[in-house]
Amino acid sequence: MRLQRNFRCGELTAKDVGKEVCLCGWVENYRDHGGIIFIDLTDRWGLAQIVFDPEVCGKEIHDLAGGLRSQFVIAAKGTVRLRPEGMANPKLSTGEIEVYITDMEILNKSKTPPFEALHAEKVNDETRLKYRYIDLRNPAIRNCLVFRSKLMHAIREYFYKNDFVEVETPILNKSTPEGARDYLVPSRVREGCFYALPQSPQLFKQILMTAGFDRYIQIAKCFRDEDLRADRQPEFTQVDMEMSFITQDDIIAVVEGLFKELFKEFLNIDLKLPLPRMTYQEAMLKYGCDKPDLRFGLEIKELSDVFANTEFSVFKNTLAKKGKVRGINLKGACSKLARKDLDAMTDFVKPLRGKGVAWIKMNPDGPQSPIIKFFTEAESKALYERMVAEVGDVLIFVADSEKIVCNCLSELRNFFGKKLGLYDENEKCLSWIVDFPMFELDDQGKLSAVHHPFTAPVKEDLPKLYSGDLLNIRTDAYDIVFNGHEAGGGSIRIHDPELQEKILEVLGIPLEQARQQFGFLLDALELGTPPHGGLALGLDRLVMLFLGTESIRDVIAFPKTQKATCMMCDTPTPVSQAQLDELHIAVTLPPEEDSKDA
Ligand code: AMO
Ligand code: AMP
Repeated sequence: MRLQRNFRCGELTAKDVGKEVCLCGWVENYRDHGGIIFIDLTDRWGLAQIVFDPEVCGKEIHDLAGGLRSQFVIAAKGTVRLRPEGMANPKLSTGEIEVYITDMEILNKSKTPPFEALHAEKVNDETRLKYRYIDLRNPAIRNCLVFRSKLMHAIREYFYKNDFVEVETPILNKSTPEGARDYLVPSRVREGCFYALPQSPQLFKQILMTAGFDRYIQIAKCFRDEDLRADRQPEFTQVDMEMSFITQDDIIAVVEGLFKELFKEFLNIDLKLPLPRMTYQEAMLKYGCDKPDLRFGLEIKELSDVFANTEFSVFKNTLAKKGKVRGINLKGACSKLARKDLDAMTDFVKPLRGKGVAWIKMNPDGPQSPIIKFFTEAESKALYERMVAEVGDVLIFVADSEKIVCNCLSELRNFFGKKLGLYDENEKCLSWIVDFPMFELDDQGKLSAVHHPFTAPVKEDLPKLYSGDLLNIRTDAYDIVFNGHEAGGGSIRIHDPELQEKILEVLGIPLEQARQQFGFLLDALELGTPPHGGLALGLDRLVMLFLGTESIRDVIAFPKTQKATCMMCDTPTPVSQAQLDELHIAVTLPPEEDSKDA
């Protein structure tokens, strides 16, 4: 490189007029106006207009400039001048000036790029991810990562100044029961054995409390082989913390303090503390999920009692099977929803295992509905009262097992909240969900831990552990919810070895298996483990929610696709036979058809 940069494109202003500067960057926009060539030269800091006038730069450099194409990388030296009268661009910080080039060097030629970074919205996602470095040249996308970096810095500063110690924990790990499938790594040295990549640093951070660190924080990579969604990636980052000798309120206070600072610094919002808290039970009843979007109302109403004696077969059969009938009043939606919107609800709930959605339109000339004819007058009256139904409203209902009712109504609620424009997209809403149950029944009817088996039950509910009233045991666990996303979760942990053994026993995890999986934790509980608890925030989700982007992929430099592949590196890929042999691994592929989408 002959020319050395001494200024950044995006940082030049009228104050620099008269200076000789040397800029480096990418050719963005090439215009030839009667022999004078204008180029927008871009770098991370912005854009400067550079000018090749043959009278200033000479024929040789002008000819060289004539060969420049989009995305060539160049260094160019020249003098900063004010743009002529009327030619300033007030939209640009550098809009008042331009640089008359006297010397230029091409540092890297570019083939015609597969797409233009600034117009990538027309390009399919695969191509954008394959050439992610081009996509990232778009300032709108690159700035998401710049924001992420600033947010991480602020988070670290907050914890450091509050006496937390950042400790790195291993990536080559043993499987921890976090709930998702593990990514496995074969060991060459211990033949036939595998490491698991951490689903979270959970057990290590607990052990660090045993070790006396008292306040731990880590910005940690976590790996989970699970089905991906718009807010999930197979590898993601947690802001992971743990504290000793504390209660739930202490942890909540530390996390609220963090959000207060981040909201002020990055959103200029004065966050009101304490944040609202809602019990898990209330959230499930009113919103059908444990991460309600509280930017709008549309609360769910229990109607099972209203229809206890109904002759409407759909409701009757459901209630006979101990199911539930619940509904939502879509206030004032009558004029906004056409018949086809209402009929479309049935297809909407199918993937959620819902069988249908009944509805009543409260028209000015009386209620309209395919099901109202089945109700007695008393039922209709009680229904309208319960739902506070008025002319102009649309009432919707789901009858099914409680789980399906909650799920369908929660998704319908989110859908209509957005469709009916019930909130401002820029609003930020944080709240805590507390008192999670310790156990739940999975789809096979087997007892499992709602969080993880190291979560402490609340003291008052401990007797239920011995009386068998297991599903009504609450835990000292808490989630922080941000605009309808679970932004973080944590709990007070069990530090009593006997209680830990009892929980494992109730979960049907044999002590021998537990010892094999996390014997080190069970040992530590008998070697001076203080009372402790913590929480982990999903960093990627936080960035996404602060920026209001649609997908978690927008805030990750090299994200994976829905199928957990990296389009740019083409990962995962087969490895050589020699590598497999060394690890004593034989690969047996399923028949062609099944392996196609794997
Ligand atoms: P949990 O499993 O709730 O808790 O994870 C904490 C937070 O991490 C984020 N998160 C994810 N983000 C992106 N992609 C994923 N696949 C993904 N999975 C989780 C969420 C979530 O709230 N060890 C416990 C924490 C504790 O108890 O202290 C844990 O990992 O925002
Ligand atoms: P059907 O008797 O199946 O024609 O259903 C009558 C009405 O009830 C239709 O509007 C269906 O969409 C609705 N419906 C069917 N199953 C359910 C259900 N499980 N919960 C709520 N509504 C339902």
